[in-house]
Amino acid sequence: MAKHKKVATKKVPYVGIVGLGYVGLPLAREFVQGGAKVLGFDVNKSTVLKVNKGVSPLKHLTNKVIKDMVTSNQFKATDNMAQLSQVDAILICVPTPLTENREPDMFYVETTCKTIAKYLRKGQLVVLESTTYPGTTRELMLPILERSGLKAGRDFYLAYSPEREDPGNKHFQTATIAKVVGGYDKASLERALAVYKWAIETLVPVDSCEIAESAKILENVYRCVNIAMVNELKMLFDRMGIDVWEVIRAASTKPFGFQAFYPGPGLGGHCIPIDPFYLTWKARQYGMPTRFIELAGEINTDMPYYVIQRVMEALNDCRKSLKGSKILVLGLAYKKDIDDLRESPSIELIEILREKGAKVDYNDPYFPRTHKQRDHDLKMTSKPLNTKMLKSYDCVLIATDHSCYDYDYIVRHAQLVVDTRNATAGVKQGRRKIHTA
Ligand SMILES: NC(=O)c1ccc[n+]([C@@H]2O[C@H](COP(=O)([O-])OP(=O)(O)OC[C@H]3O[C@@H](n4cnc5c(N)ncnc54)[C@H](O)[C@@H]3O)[C@@H](O)[C@H]2O)c1
Repeated sequence: MAKHKKVATKKVPYVGIVGLGYVGLPLAREFVQGGAKVLGFDVNKSTVLKVNKGVSPLKHLTNKVIKDMVTSNQFKATDNMAQLSQVDAILICVPTPLTENREPDMFYVETTCKTIAKYLRKGQLVVLESTTYPGTTRELMLPILERSGLKAGRDFYLAYSPEREDPGNKHFQTATIAKVVGGYDKASLERALAVYKWAIETLVPVDSCEIAESAKILENVYRCVNIAMVNELKMLFDRMGIDVWEVIRAASTKPFGFQAFYPGPGLGGHCIPIDPFYLTWKARQYGMPTRFIELAGEINTDMPYYVIQRVMEALNDCRKSLKGSKILVLGLAYKKDIDDLRESPSIELIEILREKGAKVDYNDPYFPRTHKQRDHDLKMTSKPLNTKMLKSYDCVLIATDHSCYDYDYIVRHAQLVVDTRNATAGVKQGRRKIHTA
């Protein structure tokens, strides 16, 4: 692994970051802190305006972080793509979702590359950071970029370096997460390493773009499959009257050969529920099914239904039916302490509960109201979390274990609690009201 040295190249690089979201903004911060100059590009005018005013568009990134970047005079955001020609390196951090048919939606990457091709000039480095299937850099990006008339390896440099951002992670930040870098050729790899050294402590050069692309997919398939396994074990252990959380705690004491994964109400976020299916799609071109991924997907997408089943059983114990019951879903975000709703299982839980005739509200301090998404429009506002409100619900369903919640208080005043995250593990009083799911 190459260790970061404070001054990596003599010339301060001018870095362009395309896509100022969960990945692009923290990356920009690291380059600024490392002493580089950054020009951030985004097609969303409101993001550009906000950022230039020192306002963070993301809750887990404070306004101070953005303000410090702007006042350093090393950072500016723009929606004027013509300025791409000014920078030395272009790092692409745009979304890679799935289409309705669950196939890779490369629209954002393709559009970005077409725009770059218009302004590409000799000597520039282009790096894709977005998660994608192996082969994207060479098969999809390269031909589009070469429409500029410039040749990769001769006129410009090309590389792939996957982002490993984990929003809200208190232990690791962009700069301290080792970064894999694969180049189109040797010169591209060297150029990419020289640029990233300004921002990232540890770089991991690999032999090709395809290895870097596959490494990212492997990391996410690994999580997806292991989470599915513990989700399945949770259902079995629940039936056997064994506490899965205690089982994982015990198994985790093994100092080698075991890594803990935790069950939940279903997969969420922009990565784990989506990225493995990029590989599934690509594998079809090679006539291979990806059975582990398919099975994991099946188990994980069934989890919200299992949770609702547990809510029904818990209500049944109180001689109540789900139909007509008032349910408070606690936590909308797909994981704790962040304001990211993408693919959140809470949305599915709310929709199933509504379908079954429950009256559903939610509380989440990160979402005062819900916004229209690609596939959902809940049209809801967050309800206050006070004694009177808690008492008024037939069941409180803990979907996201935000740290700001006082679980003792919630259990004390709720009639019934269904906990999908083991958030109430430390609650001493009122345990008979708690059901796991
Ligand atoms: N969010 C994470 O935790 C995470 C972690 C690792 C990898 N990734 C990967 O990183 C990539 C980016 O994810 P994200 O979460 O930052 O997405 P995001 O939606 O938060 O941000 C993407 C930004 O790109 C902008 N954009 C879209 N098209 C553009 C274009 N043509 N030109 C300029 N800007 C454009 C959008 O307006 C948005 O601000 C995805 O491939 C994702 O899978 C995300």
